[in-house]
Amino acid sequence: MTATAATSSLKWPEDALRLNAVCPYYTMFPLDFPLQQLEALPEATRMLDPFCGRGTTLYAARLARLPSVGIDINPVAAAIARAKLIKVTPGSVVRLARQILSDGFRGEMPDGEFWRLCFEQETLRELVTLREALLEMSTPTAAMLRAVMLGILHGPRNKGVPSYLSNQMPRTYASKPAYAVKFWTEREMEPVRVPALEVIERRAQRLLHAAPPAHGGRVYLGDSVETLNGLRQKFDLVVTSPPYYGMRTYVADQWLRSWFLGGSPEVPYGTTGQIARQPNQEAFIQALAEVWAATARRCHEGARLAIRFGALPSARTDPEEMLLASVKESRAGWVIKEVRQAGTPAKRNRQAEQFGKAGSAIDEIDLVAELVGLAR
Ligand SMILES: C[S@@+](CC[C@H](N)C(=O)[O-])C[C@H]1O[C@@H](n2cnc3c(N)ncnc32)[C@H](O)[C@@H]1O
Repeated sequence: MTATAATSSLKWPEDALRLNAVCPYYTMFPLDFPLQQLEALPEATRMLDPFCGRGTTLYAARLARLPSVGIDINPVAAAIARAKLIKVTPGSVVRLARQILSDGFRGEMPDGEFWRLCFEQETLRELVTLREALLEMSTPTAAMLRAVMLGILHGPRNKGVPSYLSNQMPRTYASKPAYAVKFWTEREMEPVRVPALEVIERRAQRLLHAAPPAHGGRVYLGDSVETLNGLRQKFDLVVTSPPYYGMRTYVADQWLRSWFLGGSPEVPYGTTGQIARQPNQEAFIQALAEVWAATARRCHEGARLAIRFGALPSARTDPEEMLLASVKESRAGWVIKEVRQAGTPAKRNRQAEQFGKAGSAIDEIDLVAELVGLAR
């Protein structure tokens, strides 16, 4: 199988792209980034993303009718990414939710001020029941319902029909309990009853009614190097984005979604296995180098590797230098073909203004490499 022309999201009706937005995720890249890489390598047969996040690369592969593999160490990312590879009807998702809810309440209600103010009691009972039931299920329909739930768990309160189950909250990340309680109390914002099934029905219909056919693949929850070492398939197109240097909040910022997947009802501050937790820049470069080396071992000669990378302004470092060093350090046969700025001019200006005095402007970059010579 080779890629069919799926080179720009503009070529697709909006409805066919909705599933890609099932749930937001921190530092997700736009669908056009992997689609552009497919345009550059139309003979691609299988795609890989060793830091897949919400699975944008996997959705681009699906549009191009290719199988793909994604790896992520964050359970929230893996749960969202899995949905990108699944084709189920909206009706099957709604039937499953209805069946779970009609079986009656199960699970343990979390208590405390945060939970009382975040969800209306009946809505919370439904949420807890769905959580408990889904913990034991692994069918494609259950995986899709799980991703839909992660997407509707929290977000802004709109005036018309509700789109989210929570009291007012951002949709991209979950507020910390103390902050959220203060916010709601000061504004006298009580949670309102939001029937879970109604929101699930609307959302599933919107996301799935025009979803394109699925073309196979798999998402692994785990460390990229360990997982890559256990894989058998070979890839010819790798499109990825490692955690940005200095970024340590992937898990804590998604704490409510982590709870829904079986995590603690409190904010977890540990981030086990996150590559961004390396103690210093050298260790981070070395850890990335190991990923590029393990990736090369799973790639055909001539494979294309496209990486988007950045550093948080607070990290005060040059992402381009770091990324180049990590690819060189991998000594795996990757030859760098291109490095260029990925950020928008507006963003660059803003950052330049802010950090110009302290050093160079910080931005996102795209690096493209080709595998020449077989990896050892
Ligand atoms: C920049 S995000 C990727 C975003 C993705 N491109 C998207 O569109 O959603 C980087 C991801 O790397 C994951 N990660 C960090 N350390 C990892 C490791 N050791 N193995 C696998 N994934 C890891 C993080 O959990 C995070 O989801």
